[in-house]
Amino acid sequence: MTINFGLIGPGNIADRSLAPAISEVEGARLWRVTSRRVERAKEFAAKHDAGADNPAHDDYGEMLKDPDLDAVMISTPDRLHEKNGIQAAQAGKHVLMEKPMVSSSEGGEVLLEACRSNGVKLGVAYHLRWHRGHRKLVRKVHDGVLGKLHHVRVQWSVKAEDDSNWRAYDDVGRWWSLAGIGTHGLDLIRWAMLPDCGEVVEIDSTIANSYWNSPHDETAMVNLKFESGATAELTTSVLFESEPEFKIYGRKGSAIARDTLGPHGGGTIILKEESLDFSQKNPYEGEIRDFVESITGDRDPEVPGEEGLRNVEILETAAPDTKSQY
Ligand SMILES: NC(=O)c1ccc[n+]([C@@H]2O[C@H](COP(=O)([O-])OP(=O)(O)OC[C@H]3O[C@@H](n4cnc5c(N)ncnc54)[C@H](OP(=O)(O)O)[C@@H]3O)[C@@H](O)[C@H]2O)c1
Repeated sequence: MTINFGLIGPGNIADRSLAPAISEVEGARLWRVTSRRVERAKEFAAKHDAGADNPAHDDYGEMLKDPDLDAVMISTPDRLHEKNGIQAAQAGKHVLMEKPMVSSSEGGEVLLEACRSNGVKLGVAYHLRWHRGHRKLVRKVHDGVLGKLHHVRVQWSVKAEDDSNWRAYDDVGRWWSLAGIGTHGLDLIRWAMLPDCGEVVEIDSTIANSYWNSPHDETAMVNLKFESGATAELTTSVLFESEPEFKIYGRKGSAIARDTLGPHGGGTIILKEESLDFSQKNPYEGEIRDFVESITGDRDPEVPGEEGLRNVEILETAAPDTKSQY
């Protein structure tokens, strides 16, 4: 069985990572594309070899009418996710959503209900869960190699050259550094810690936005406390480059992943002073494969909508400022 994907939002991540990954996964195929401009949809469909007849659309509803379309990959800006996802669910299409899943927890609840009531899967595209080294490390951590977990730290920042990014503004963005990269850090923290540490029970944050006076976070520091008493910290920014780090500290030792946060699937991991071997593989392929198998095997995707919603709830608590406007 081949899962035919429609894609809406043929921008940076769709072109660079998502469409190539769909074409590399056996059992998945790019089928149709929706852009605001049909010429762009045509160009994207041709480049990535979309399989349907006349696969380019500037009307999302039209694309969703195709009975041969099974699933939609949504890679539009964050504030459009909820609407795009609900429309797909109502058309009976499975939804693989870019992160963050939505831009408000209320919207997340509505999206989850739309997917549940229409009997479609909802997965969230946290590709760093399919980084081969992360998978090996987190499996070992869950098996207890570091003993009881005490603390996890993620730092990931990039240097934006200006404030022209849509994430800096309210029209289609809600958070900037937290939505661009920080949400991945929160997902890694939760993935590593939940089995040993239970749920997040406290959230503190420091948000800074005075360099460009963006209405959204330019730098964010988020501190979490879990039911077990374990703690975690996330530092994320669009103001400066830093070496991406994912560190896990337990009673029996620590692990440090350096330069693993990004699209590439590479970097190095040191577990209890020793290098952890892993092969470098495109993590987006794993993400697409998992979603396809969740459909064909009728199981939950590895990152289901409920987890996407929990991540958004943390973002909302950490950086709530723009919420009252919507
Ligand atoms: N998992 C990851 O590694 C990763 C990495 C980057 C981004 N993302 C996520 O993917 C989504 C897209 O991010 P991106 O960096 O690819 O953004 P992008 O390059 O700006 O692409 C988004 C596309 O959405 C379409 N769009 C529809 N309405 C729009 C509007 N009002 N304003 C701007 N674009 C609009 C545009 O395509 P048309 O003009 O053709 O309609 C645009 O090219 C975001 O949710 C982001 O968080 C994930």
